Amino acid sequence: MFNNLNIEENTRYEVLITTNNNDNSYNTKPFGVLFKQDNVILNLYPNNTLKNIRNNPSFTIQLSSNPLTFTKALLGKLDESDYDDNGILKKTSRILYANATDYVVIIHEDKYGDTPITRITAEITDVVMLNNSPPTINRTTNKIIELLVKLSRVKYMNKEEFESFKKEADDSFKFIIKEGNQDHMDSLILIKQEIKKNDENY
Ligand SMILES: Cc1cc2nc3c(=O)[nH]c(=O)nc-3n(C[C@H](O)[C@H](O)[C@H](O)COP(=O)(O)O)c2cc1C
Repeated sequence: MFNNLNIEENTRYEVLITTNNNDNSYNTKPFGVLFKQDNVILNLYPNNTLKNIRNNPSFTIQLSSNPLTFTKALLGKLDESDYDDNGILKKTSRILYANATDYVVIIHEDKYGDTPITRITAEITDVVMLNNSPPTINRTTNKIIELLVKLSRVKYMNKEEFESFKKEADDSFKFIIKEGNQDHMDSLILIKQEIKKNDENY
């Protein structure tokens, strides 16, 4: 099924996963996933996406290389104008429909402590190609994705780790300002706001 998608097995891809909330609104968040034959594998910390999939095993994987869509997704700032009908993001190139079939809970030990991670295996039931955007790499987008991953872990960081993240973020900001397009700049503004909000809580 993945041949015409050009997806490699055993390679982690950053994607957007859309699940349905109890009130039928959409929850779209970034996750790193692996593909194996006709399955996708998710490793989820305790979060709303996990809760939603436990309630309803059908979910959507949206492939996108748009940095602002990833930023807005992580920060809970996607609104109706970002979606077409049926929860499809306007800035997505491929949609994969999936159905969770297996759940394994693993205790993950890292510097932030012991955390249960749920490994979900889901069967890909359908693939829809929406447009032919080229599979290219953009370093500014990569910088933003790295900042977002760290930002999603801020709640587990101590003061020292947060200060070191802020320094790293400052270096990335210089690169983004020099190289970025409007979506990169809009992402940077949202990321800066989020760092400032967290800074006030330390
Ligand atoms: C690029 C990227 C990849 C991520 N991958 C994962 C992942 O594999 N597993 C996970 O639990 N969280 C991952 N996160 C963090 C979640 O997106 C984040 O915790 C989010 O707030 C979860 O939202 P929810 O509670 O609505 O599900 C990732 C974040 C980013 C930016």
